[in-house]
Amino acid sequence: MPDLPAPAIAPGHVFFFGLGYTALRLARRMRDSGWAVSGTVRSRDKAQALSEAEGMTVHAFDGTAPIAAADPFAGVTHLVDTVPPREILVPALERHAEDLRSCATLRWVGYLSTPAVYGDRQGDVVTEDEAPTPGSRRGELRAAAERAWLDAFPGSDIAVQVFRVAGIYGPGEGRNAIEQLQSGKARIIDKPGQVFNRIHVDDIGSILLASMARPRDGGIYNVADTEACPPADPIVFAAGLLGIDPPTPIPFDSAELSEMARSFYSECKRLDTARLTDELGVELTYPTYREGLRAIALEAGVSSCRQFRSTENRIRS
Ligand SMILES: NC(=O)c1ccc[n+]([C@@H]2O[C@H](COP(=O)([O-])OP(=O)(O)OC[C@H]3O[C@@H](n4cnc5c(N)ncnc54)[C@H](OP(=O)(O)O)[C@@H]3O)[C@@H](O)[C@H]2O)c1
Repeated sequence: MPDLPAPAIAPGHVFFFGLGYTALRLARRMRDSGWAVSGTVRSRDKAQALSEAEGMTVHAFDGTAPIAAADPFAGVTHLVDTVPPREILVPALERHAEDLRSCATLRWVGYLSTPAVYGDRQGDVVTEDEAPTPGSRRGELRAAAERAWLDAFPGSDIAVQVFRVAGIYGPGEGRNAIEQLQSGKARIIDKPGQVFNRIHVDDIGSILLASMARPRDGGIYNVADTEACPPADPIVFAAGLLGIDPPTPIPFDSAELSEMARSFYSECKRLDTARLTDELGVELTYPTYREGLRAIALEAGVSSCRQFRSTENRIRS
C-alpha cells in the first residue's frame, strides 16, 4: 500500500451501507487510524466472515427488511452509502430514515453516485453546478437517489454530500487492466470520439476523508482523475507494463455488451474536478491511469514493470 493521506479529523465511528470494493478499502484505512467501523453486506455469511476477519461490526442488510441488530447506529458520526439504486431507490432510507434522523451523534453523510446523472454531453466538460439531465434509466434513478439523500435531514446539523464517481479501478478483484489482461478478460471497445474519466479506489477514499474534514451540506463533487481518455488507453498502457500485445479493438456496434455497459458507452463527457482541489484541498495520489496502473503493477510484482521502474530510475539519476 503506498503512503496515503491520513484522515485529517479525530477518529469517530463510521458506518458503511455496502461494504463492497471501495468501501472496504476505506473502512480498513479508517479502522487502522483508530475509527470504529461498522457497516452492511447483503448476506449473513459474508457479514459474519467480514466481522471476524476485519474487526468491524458487519450486519446483513439487503434492503428488504431493517437491520436486525438493536440500534445499529449508536454512536455513529459518519455514514457512507455505496448501495446502487435498483428495485429500492435508497435501501438505507427506505428502512432506516427515522433511525438516522434520530441519531444524535451523526454529523456527516456521503452518498456515492455516478456521472450518469449528467447524461450524454458529447465529450464536453461538465461541472457539478450543471443541472442533472439523465439520459438513461440508470441516470434517472441515480439523480432521484441523490435527491433523496440531500433532502433526508431537513433542519438538522447533518451535512449530506454527494460524490459522482468516475470509472473505479484499483488493486484486486479484477478491477484493473493488468489483472484483466492476465485473466484474458480485457477488451478494447472501439467507439471513435469516446472518452471517460477513471478514479483509483484509494483516491476516492482520500476524497471522502477530505470531505469529512470539510463538511458542506448539499456539497456535490465530481470524483475523477485529471485525464478523460479513450477506453483503449489504459489497456494499451497496461499491456506495455506486462510486455504483451493489447487485444484487438472490437467495434462498439458489434461488441457484445451488457445493458449497463451499453448505456455507459452511449454517453460521453469529461468531468471537471476543480472542486476537489479548490474546496477539499485534495491532491490525487494517482492523477491519471498511468500512475495508478504502474503502482498496481509494482505491488503485484509484475517483472517487466520492475524493469521499467529501474530503467526509469537510471534515466533520472
Ligand atoms: N464500478 C464503477 O466503476 C463505478 C463507477 C461509478 C460509480 N459506482 C458506484 O459507486 C458505488 C461503489 O462502487 P463499488 O464498485 O465499490 O461497489 P460494490 O463493490 O459493488 O459494492 C456495493 C455494495 O452495496 C451492497 N449492495 C448492493 N445492492 C444492495 C441492496 N439492494 N441492498 C443492500 N446492499 C446492497 C453490496 O453488498 P455485497 O457486499 O453483499 O455485494 C456491496 O457491499 C456503487 O454504488 C457503484 O454503483 C461504481
